[in-house]
Amino acid sequence: MYIHISEYHGLTGHVKKTLWFFQSSKLIWYNGIKYPLMRTQAVLRICEKYGQNHLVRHFLNLGEWQRSKFLKNLEQIDFPLLDSLYSNYVMGKKSFFDCSNLGPPEVISLPKTAKDKKLQEKAKMIGELLLREKKVSCLLVAGGQATRLGINTPKGFYPITPVKRKTFFQLFSEKILAISKKYNTEIPFFIMTNPESKEEVKNFFESQDFFGLKKENVIIFEQDVLPVLTRDGKIIMKNETEILSSPNGHGNSIKKLYDLGILHTLLERGYEYLFYFQVDNPLVKIADPIFLGYHRMYDADVSLKVVRKKSEDEKVGLYVSLSGRPAIIEYSDLDPETANLRDKNGDLIYWAGNTAMHVFSLEFLKSLNDQGFAFPYHVVEKKIYVEKERKEIDVLKFETFVFDCLLRSKKTCALEVIREEEFSPVKNSTGPSSPLTAQKDMSHLFKKWLKASGIHAPLEVQVEISPLFAIDMDECIEKLKGKNLTIERDIYIE
Ligand code: UTP
Repeated sequence: MYIHISEYHGLTGHVKKTLWFFQSSKLIWYNGIKYPLMRTQAVLRICEKYGQNHLVRHFLNLGEWQRSKFLKNLEQIDFPLLDSLYSNYVMGKKSFFDCSNLGPPEVISLPKTAKDKKLQEKAKMIGELLLREKKVSCLLVAGGQATRLGINTPKGFYPITPVKRKTFFQLFSEKILAISKKYNTEIPFFIMTNPESKEEVKNFFESQDFFGLKKENVIIFEQDVLPVLTRDGKIIMKNETEILSSPNGHGNSIKKLYDLGILHTLLERGYEYLFYFQVDNPLVKIADPIFLGYHRMYDADVSLKVVRKKSEDEKVGLYVSLSGRPAIIEYSDLDPETANLRDKNGDLIYWAGNTAMHVFSLEFLKSLNDQGFAFPYHVVEKKIYVEKERKEIDVLKFETFVFDCLLRSKKTCALEVIREEEFSPVKNSTGPSSPLTAQKDMSHLFKKWLKASGIHAPLEVQVEISPLFAIDMDECIEKLKGKNLTIERDIYIE
């Protein structure tokens, strides 16, 4: 990035004026050397080169100390990358997928026959063995900005459970603790946050004694960010000295696990699988043995759970076959006519909604990184509140998505699961996919467990069962066997 002073003559008029300004304001003598001039030269030239002249103008209007802070910020920006993302994905409308060769996906359906059920039992046994043998680790991606939910804390802090109002983080930690106890195993729990929330999340876990998990098994790391752009490709100021950036997508988790040496360490310790989940689904069955077992039986690189779409226009990513290869595409990539295509029974052909629950083979993730696999970018349009402007503005974000590694997977295993039992994501503050719908779904599921245990809960009451009491319906039945419980008001069972 540093250039020699002789390159001064190569600068455009505007930057030259800027440098003259610096000389006269003596900033170039900072630390007694001319280094800051060269540094300034280099950065401002790059801003100009990539059409970000407003940053140069902004720079000129700042005071001395603000300038050096701003300069540091500018130096962090990968201008060529941003430029190519904007030209390719926005101007050139580059789409990673060619949807002309679309086909229905291959999925292991819900078990219907005795043979299916036997296979599922076998998968469960295999998965349980993997857990007992300490082959399974977990990754929670929690680096998103949760703009749709509209809270000013990380989503993991949201009090989501229907009665006790446990946060997502507590709920997930207790699920992992319950599984660890049940199978007498150690599950390393990785949490990816964004840089702004990492300390807050760390402090929260520390203040809660890691919810009973071993401190050394909870590893919190931060993801990378990228500047966001206006629709016409301009970098946006967050405040006087900082650029507005945002997390660069959950796909970044795979690279960070590798770059931070986590994959290497896990493999060295004999771990083989990573259960991946997102922060917004309180119904997630973390490290589900059935899922793990199928993944192993299929010798898959990547596995995923899918649910049937509620309707043709549900906004959910879709698991499909693209030119004969498994892939996940966004709902917006499918035109309404194709999305509504039906088979002879009237069922949707493209029915498999992605739940964002995966099992990855660690060797596969390592080899992807060894080969330098670069995830493709997706453009995400969002409204973000900008401190400097004191209002929400429309921005373009560039994100990579974890499921794009399916493109490289030699074997993929997709498993259909029952939505009501496993999938109720919290995306919005009200309406569909909101805290209210998730709380209803949780309570509804727990009532089902109680019913199977011979206990009736009236319609109007809310029920919550701690994962530390029962992790699934079978355990609930077992624990409540012979118990007489009358439920008249909201109840928390622990
Ligand atoms: P979403 O697509 O729901 O994005 O993320 P979001 O940013 O959290 O929410 P909105 O769109 O602003 O309302 C799905 C999952 O991926 C994680 C989120 O934390 C969530 O678990 N994620 C998303 C990351 O970890 N990093 C990112 O850069 C983006």
